[in-house]
Amino acid sequence: MKGDIGGKMVIKSKLKWVGLVGLVLSALSLFTHFLLARYSYTDDALTEYQAITIFSWRPIFENADLSPTSKLYRRLWGPVRRLKSLQPHAKPRQLYSVPVSESNRFIFVRIRGGFHEIRSSICDAVVIARLLNATLVIPEIQSTTSSKGISAQFKSFAYLYNEDQFMAALANDITVVKTLPKSLKGARRKKEIPSFKVANSQSPYYYLHHVLPVLKRHSVVELVVSDGGCLQANLPPDLEEYQRLRCRVAFHALSFRQEVQELATKILHRLRAPGRPFIAYDPGMTRDALAYYGCAELFQDVHTELIQHRRLWMIKRGIVKGNLTVDSNTRRLNGSCPLMPEEIGIILRAYGYSWDTIIYISGGEVFGGQKKLIPFHAIFENVVDRTSLTTPWELNKIYGREANLVDKYPKTPPSAEKETKYESWKTSGQRPRPLPPPPARPKSYNIEGWWGWVAESDNEPESTVIELRTNAHKLLWEAIDYTVCVEADVFVPGFDRDGKGRPSFASLVMGHRLYQSATAKSFMLDRKEIAKHMEEISDHLYELNQTWIKSVRNHLSKSLVDGLTEESKVSKSLSFLSFPVPECACLRANPSGASSHASTSQIPAALKAAPSCPAWMGKDVTSHTEDKENEDDLDEDDSGPLGLFFRQSGGSGNRNAASGGGRGGGEMMSSKEETQMEDQEEMEGGDR
Ligand SMILES: *[C@@H]1O[C@H](CO)[C@@H](O)[C@H](O)[C@H]1NC(C)=O
Ligand SMILES: *[C@@H]1O[C@H](CO)[C@@H](O)[C@H](O)[C@H]1NC(C)=O
Ligand SMILES: *[C@@H]1O[C@H](CO)[C@@H](O)[C@H](O)[C@H]1NC(C)=O
Ligand SMILES: *[C@@H]1O[C@H](CO)[C@@H](O)[C@H](O)[C@H]1NC(C)=O
Repeated sequence: MKGDIGGKMVIKSKLKWVGLVGLVLSALSLFTHFLLARYSYTDDALTEYQAITIFSWRPIFENADLSPTSKLYRRLWGPVRRLKSLQPHAKPRQLYSVPVSESNRFIFVRIRGGFHEIRSSICDAVVIARLLNATLVIPEIQSTTSSKGISAQFKSFAYLYNEDQFMAALANDITVVKTLPKSLKGARRKKEIPSFKVANSQSPYYYLHHVLPVLKRHSVVELVVSDGGCLQANLPPDLEEYQRLRCRVAFHALSFRQEVQELATKILHRLRAPGRPFIAYDPGMTRDALAYYGCAELFQDVHTELIQHRRLWMIKRGIVKGNLTVDSNTRRLNGSCPLMPEEIGIILRAYGYSWDTIIYISGGEVFGGQKKLIPFHAIFENVVDRTSLTTPWELNKIYGREANLVDKYPKTPPSAEKETKYESWKTSGQRPRPLPPPPARPKSYNIEGWWGWVAESDNEPESTVIELRTNAHKLLWEAIDYTVCVEADVFVPGFDRDGKGRPSFASLVMGHRLYQSATAKSFMLDRKEIAKHMEEISDHLYELNQTWIKSVRNHLSKSLVDGLTEESKVSKSLSFLSFPVPECACLRANPSGASSHASTSQIPAALKAAPSCPAWMGKDVTSHTEDKENEDDLDEDDSGPLGLFFRQSGGSGNRNAASGGGRGGGEMMSSKEETQMEDQEEMEGGDR
């Protein structure tokens, strides 16, 4: 009897075990399933996305690929031959000592500002550390650290740039440490270290005679840089080595944090996937710049008021001197306002870029919103930006882990009045009745914080936590855009000044391109000239004649080289990095052995001062015959298509068909107009 019962119990407990094991197994399989799913999500991200087209961009091409040897291709995408002997050369040229290790002197720099201001300020800080023989503490970038909710994983400098690369690359120039030594840290916390608020263009004299004595006494100084730089752009000739140091910092030591760099590379990869060259376009239409230059009336909506609000604020602070209301159109005509996206679109089409050219729009903020880009999208089919080439998930990944923010608009309790109203509604009168009044909604402004308040208040609301965080993220976005713009086959800026009238993001990009690959096309447009051209066609935008198109083409080709002379006069004195030649360049000899200067007669005077390149750089490899052909020949030869906004009717040969018609902007025209165009085209003759 007993044994029987015992046997039953054994069977029962065995069953239990089987059940348990089964449960564990299924849990395990579920777990592996998730793990696998997650794993494949992260690691095969690229291939997976490509397969199922998550991006909003589906490239559409109609025109045949141009042959890279065709004249048109070379005019649109080829190197700027007149600059081909210009090579990057930022190594020290004179006797250059390794950093003197007076390691008991520290410079601690706090930087405020936008992307381009941070970048120039870091370069200046390095130069100052070398000038004073001091050890540089990795600079603190304020706009990230002061933003609540930013991932604690990345702090300050390391949020944007690669610290180790920075320290290693500058090992022969200055000593860089990650933090102050312990003893000084305490002093800093107690605010006992001397601090200088330095202006944008301080002279070396100021540092040697005002800062250095204090540094010697206290062995540490703090520099607060909030003005986009802390050392004048032009240095005296005996300090030329310091200009090259600036180049080494900007173009070699400052590389973005690995995750950011990787995403930028991925984007470049996706841009190049169709196997065609692309244009990067930086509109530069920021609210600050528009306000500073008095371009408010170029917008015909609430944005005008928002810009004027900003301008008022700038006037109160003395940033802008002048009247609040200015005639924006005169400003535009004298070249002080950004070129609008549609203007850029028209001149690019006039230059010969076909409607299916890939165009990357840089910059998070096109003031005026996507609306301002509609004409541009109508002219060009393949317009992309970083959001159409990444997934939100990829962008989120570079932010790292962040505090979870619930937007903190306090819900105001319904007012007593409302409650009584509701009560009285419940108890009074006959039914049916209209619904009770809706509860008062707490006032909240959208993320951009712009338009909600403009009609009600003279003051902008405080930035919300989410806004601050978005601002900090903007640095990363701009880092990505910067990389793409520098690498682009062609770069077009819509504007090159910031909200303080100084060279902006676009200027830094141009300087970097000029240094790294001088022959890559960067259009340095004369906005005054373009505005004049635009006026000419303002009332017959769709009937562009040959004369007009030719003169625009001439202007654009000229701007590739002649624009440099203008830049060297205007921008260089404001920001060395926007025009780092001839200090950071050399001229390479051509293979015939002729002295480099003989072959560079075409180089603009502003660059001629560059010395010949050292022998180890080798010689020019392009053949002499190609040499003879310059851009002017290309222009002469290519009468090109007229089809800016209309279909090409029976062009002559491949060349014209390739850049001609298509349907770019076709949407902008009624079919009647279109027929007229074609008639006109036929009348003008088929010999083109
Ligand atoms: C820094 O060190 C160099 C080399 O020893 C020296 O020539 C220069 O005068 C020093 N500068 C300062 C400001 O101490
Ligand atoms: C401001 O406006 C007044 C009159 O409208 C004009 O006389 C004055 O020159 C303007 N000032 C500037 C700096 O443009
Ligand atoms: C445009 O006009 C303003 C005022 O008349 C002048 O200060 C400015 O230099 C001009 N800008 C250009 C690019 O000519
Ligand atoms: C071409 O267009 C420009 C500007 O629209 C105009 O000034 C010019 O007279 C036109 N030329 C011809 C030949 O039609």
